[in-house]
Amino acid sequence: MQELKQTIKDLVVVGKGILAADESVKTAAKRLASIGVESTDETRRQYRNLILTAPEIEKYISGVILFEETLHQKSNDGVLFPEHLRRIWVVPGIKVDNGLAELNGEQITKGLDDLGERLEVFKKAGTRFAKWRAVYSISENTPSDLIINRNAADLAKYAKICHQHGFVPIVEPEVLIDGAHSIETCYNVSEKVLKAVFNALKKEGVKIEYIILKPSMVISGKQAINRANVDEVAKKTVKCLKATVPEELPSINFLSGGQTPQEATAHLNKMHTLGEKLPWHVSFSYARALQEPALEAWKGKDENLHTAQMAFIRRAKLNSLATIGKYREEMENEIEVM
Ligand code: G3H
Repeated sequence: MQELKQTIKDLVVVGKGILAADESVKTAAKRLASIGVESTDETRRQYRNLILTAPEIEKYISGVILFEETLHQKSNDGVLFPEHLRRIWVVPGIKVDNGLAELNGEQITKGLDDLGERLEVFKKAGTRFAKWRAVYSISENTPSDLIINRNAADLAKYAKICHQHGFVPIVEPEVLIDGAHSIETCYNVSEKVLKAVFNALKKEGVKIEYIILKPSMVISGKQAINRANVDEVAKKTVKCLKATVPEELPSINFLSGGQTPQEATAHLNKMHTLGEKLPWHVSFSYARALQEPALEAWKGKDENLHTAQMAFIRRAKLNSLATIGKYREEMENEIEVM
């Protein structure tokens, strides 16, 4: 328990969030292709190096979720990435699910079978927390009760196994943004999903004070007309979380889920300026919303490394400000943010 307590203490820090840099080889290839770079072991290493060695990342980021391949790769200075993070007091974490599988036209998450053994290997590599993502797609007939219950049960089993091996589990139920659904539909689905997740965690006897929740925001579908504004997203998200998440949970770190970097920052900031007391630490665990500007600035070229690192740090700073309600839209146009 001492180990879990310490990891929570190191991850849950005012003004800081968690970076998701755990894109699988397939997803990394997609991201690199978007800037015209071929995905190889070396280009993926270069890209991880860009992000993880960005100057003063530790001012805004308390932990980084890594992908297995990255555990064995080194920075330009020849230091294994988990060790590099440890040296700058950033906690290394690991994505432990093995991606998605189909079940009756919906998706479940793979990777429970040998999870315990894999965690022992990941522990030796220096990681202290884990991530498991379940997805829920909104359509007329989905998500089904079958998927909601199955994903909840699997998330709870994963969390329990993590605790048995001294890892803090990030529990990630992602209600996908794809579709033309309204924010009300997203609210209803999110509420049902979160209720099922916390019921399953309780049933498994998982100690809520040693887990982190990584939910999607309550938001209109990406293709919806008249999408809800920032105020409504923040209000409905907070309402949904208050209705479903126990107060003893230490931290909620949102995923960005296809929002633009600005949207993800503005929504998080608004949750902190509603004048409502939030019983948990409320922060970010973004992948795309933190990395997109850096990826675009880099384009795979050495000469762009510094500019790209600055683009990443700038986004990290803005999100750090959003976790304390101090982000302003005008900051998007300022060259120096702080
Ligand atoms: O599992 C998904 C990532 O950890 C979060 O990614 O912020 O790009 O949605 P995202």
